[in-house]
Amino acid sequence: MHAYQIVAYILNDSEQKQSDMKKIVIVDGGPRRDMNTAQLLQRFAEGAKSVGEDVEVKSVRLYDIDYKGCMSCMACKLKGKASNICRFRDALSPLLDEIAEADGLVLGSPIYFGEVTGKMRAFLERLAFPWLSYNDYSLTAPKRMPVVLVETMNGTPERNNSNHFGTMEWCLTTALGEPERIIGYNTCQVAKYDNYELGSFSEEAKHVWRDAHWEEDLQRAYDAGRKMAEQ
Ligand SMILES: Cc1cc2nc3c(=O)[nH]c(=O)nc-3n(C[C@H](O)[C@H](O)[C@H](O)COP(=O)(O)O)c2cc1C
Repeated sequence: MHAYQIVAYILNDSEQKQSDMKKIVIVDGGPRRDMNTAQLLQRFAEGAKSVGEDVEVKSVRLYDIDYKGCMSCMACKLKGKASNICRFRDALSPLLDEIAEADGLVLGSPIYFGEVTGKMRAFLERLAFPWLSYNDYSLTAPKRMPVVLVETMNGTPERNNSNHFGTMEWCLTTALGEPERIIGYNTCQVAKYDNYELGSFSEEAKHVWRDAHWEEDLQRAYDAGRKMAEQ
């Protein structure tokens, strides 16, 4: 084999390996680094990575990125130049570009006033508006992929005010596929309830719930990570 043939072989081989890599993007829409939402997303990442070295997991915290929601610049709807990836360039653009090519997407948010956080909502505007056609109201993402939605809240399965990912769920479901859901209910919002004006919560009851459910919630996140990576 000539030297140039060996080089070509090596290049082809590395290109092949790259195309065999599975990329999962995890987007954390919560402000707290190590708390409930972040822990579930971390376990999801661990599950996905446990499947093998051909799984790349990219975790991004929206609160670390300085960006805006949809600016209504309409660049994604320009005649002859319409795009299903947001054309407005700012610090969010690299993430939106990566998601367009990903093999799986995980979105996590605490529930604030019944909805996802403002940061998550602003991100979803930028993600989904370019998918939406104003010609026929169809929704087309650059690529369909498995989606997992993670949310945490004070509410319980029986009594909560969560609207989940709201109207954006319709966009995600139509453009990417039916999402799987992981919900952490009745989370501990603080470590020491006595230090705060949180009189409607009992620290004891919170800890009883946590002891009974949290490990299970983390395990579900881990299993969902494995499942997405294996898909
Ligand atoms: C601004 C704010 C609003 C909240 N609104 C709700 C709510 O409407 N319903 C609910 O069940 N929990 C609500 N919570 C509680 C959080 O959703 C819950 O503590 C969540 O697990 C926090 O996630 P984290 O630990 O990852 O930060 C709210 C918390 C904050 C700070």
